Amino acid sequence: MLVLTLLLVSGLHSSLCTLAGSLQQDSECKGESCQKNAEFDVSSEGRLQPTGLFVNMMEEVDFSEIQVVEGEIPEWLSGSIYKVGVGAFDVGSRRVNNVIDALSKVYRWSFTPGKVPTFSTKFLKTSIYNRSVSLGELVPHRVVGDILPPITSLEKLRMALWDPSRDNNNITPWKIKGRDGITVCGESPLVFDVQNVNLDHMDKYKFFNKGKFVKEFMSASHYARHPTTGDSYNYVFMTGYDKGLFTGVEPGYEMIRVTEDPGGRAVGKVVGYIPSSLNDIRIIHSLGVTENHVILPRLSLRAELNSTTHVCSNIVFDDKAPTYIHVMAIKDGSFKTFEFPPFISVHIINSFERVNENGETEIVVDYPTLTTMEGFNHDRCYYEILNIEYMLSDQFSYMKDFKPLNDVTIRRFVMNLATGKGEVIDHPKTWQPQLLHVDFPFVNDNFRGKPFCIVYFHTIQWDNRNAMGILKLDLCKQTSVGWDDLNLFPVEPVFVPRPGGTEEDDGVLLSPVYDPRTDGSELYIWNARNLKVIAKLSSPVRVPWTNHGIWLPED
Ligand SMILES: *[C@@H]1O[C@H](CO)[C@@H](O)[C@H](O)[C@H]1NC(C)=O
Ligand SMILES: *[C@@H]1O[C@H](CO)[C@@H](O)[C@H](O)[C@H]1NC(C)=O
Repeated sequence: MLVLTLLLVSGLHSSLCTLAGSLQQDSECKGESCQKNAEFDVSSEGRLQPTGLFVNMMEEVDFSEIQVVEGEIPEWLSGSIYKVGVGAFDVGSRRVNNVIDALSKVYRWSFTPGKVPTFSTKFLKTSIYNRSVSLGELVPHRVVGDILPPITSLEKLRMALWDPSRDNNNITPWKIKGRDGITVCGESPLVFDVQNVNLDHMDKYKFFNKGKFVKEFMSASHYARHPTTGDSYNYVFMTGYDKGLFTGVEPGYEMIRVTEDPGGRAVGKVVGYIPSSLNDIRIIHSLGVTENHVILPRLSLRAELNSTTHVCSNIVFDDKAPTYIHVMAIKDGSFKTFEFPPFISVHIINSFERVNENGETEIVVDYPTLTTMEGFNHDRCYYEILNIEYMLSDQFSYMKDFKPLNDVTIRRFVMNLATGKGEVIDHPKTWQPQLLHVDFPFVNDNFRGKPFCIVYFHTIQWDNRNAMGILKLDLCKQTSVGWDDLNLFPVEPVFVPRPGGTEEDDGVLLSPVYDPRTDGSELYIWNARNLKVIAKLSSPVRVPWTNHGIWLPED
């Protein structure tokens, strides 16, 4: 049996505290070294749904000054948080119903010590956006959820001939060395740059283009940053239309490193190639990079090439497909493959290298994964959970189709490069209620690719009117801290390290928080130590659901 339960607790003191804590939490367990574990409010009394997270926000805002409503901004906070997510679900009489399909918008909050903070938001000027706006009607595009009214056969044909590239990138902002702007990514090799200050359109491009006869299907929405060089790593899944006969490009994952050329401009370099049969393409949403290795996880979400218009017709939640994790050496592209039982996850928490007591190098990767794959309705695709109807369901309809998504285990994959052996270790669940959607991990940027302890998550109680919160886990001490508040809905929290801080959680968390009682949003700042709110800032517009964010310090 590969799956073990991690029972290690760091030292006698904390194990005593954990035991005592469950009995007499408040009297026995005080102080920072022994915090009460996360408990989210399960009462449904007075709970409203976060409806406004799933409604258009058409307004664009240029540097609006924002006010501190409560508390104080830390005086060291200097830089900007960028978030990418929903702009609009419908234009004219046509609509989409999945947050990934909504027209993409970029949001920015900016802080300069001694000055009033500002807020900006602009639509990403994709071809889909431009054409929809000029037509006054959402143009048909390749969707994960549904497009209504449905795409006609003629429109399908037109899409195939004229607009095959899906450019509605609304997943992740990123910073690439050697590019001036902020890079906005989706699950494709195509990326956009927007200006870092006013969010205006700059460029749409690919780092790799192997010519007409090679099809580049996919890249991860999340680039991974090398811990010391700052280079960005990703993959491109590609194949020659001739399966390599003349083009020489067999189907597989090309690992790429985006670095700077001598002129200081971003340039893509090939690290290595991992061949993959077209019958076993996996959806890889994020990857890892450590000092010497790139980690390409192939979890059990498979892609089939069935449809050019409906993404979910191509995604299989395959509970028989083993998980493969490839560990590639950056220096020469050689790789080792580790096989594990089937697992579902999309977001890597972090990865790092260490040397064990026998002097062997191990690669460690942590993931929030579904505890069990039982009870998933295979007529549905994993990403359909992001359909508005599910996100706002009061009828617990997730139970029918997406039950496994409510039961998450944080799993550690340990891969020994000397012996080729892999091991899976379950971190204990320290939060309540245990049936909780836990995803959107965020770690301190200074610890990415390095040994770490702390991760912050977004949580959803699918079975309690979709109440949302923030969860902090210490994977070394196996303790947790939670934040939630009635009718306040945060999204993925972004961690900002305090300059000069050495403790991993010395800093703050930022997230827009939606309040259905006012149908408005505020930006919240939490102390990352204890998840206490230290400031709330006004927002000139409601901020709908956003996917991922980054923090860029002022330079
Ligand atoms: C969309 O239109 C803007 C001008 O409003 C233009 O700058 C941009 O390049 C267009 N986007 C694409 C993808 O063509
Ligand atoms: C893709 O098509 C095949 C053959 O029609 C079918 O068996 C399979 O279920 C389809 N995949 C998805 C994800 O719908």
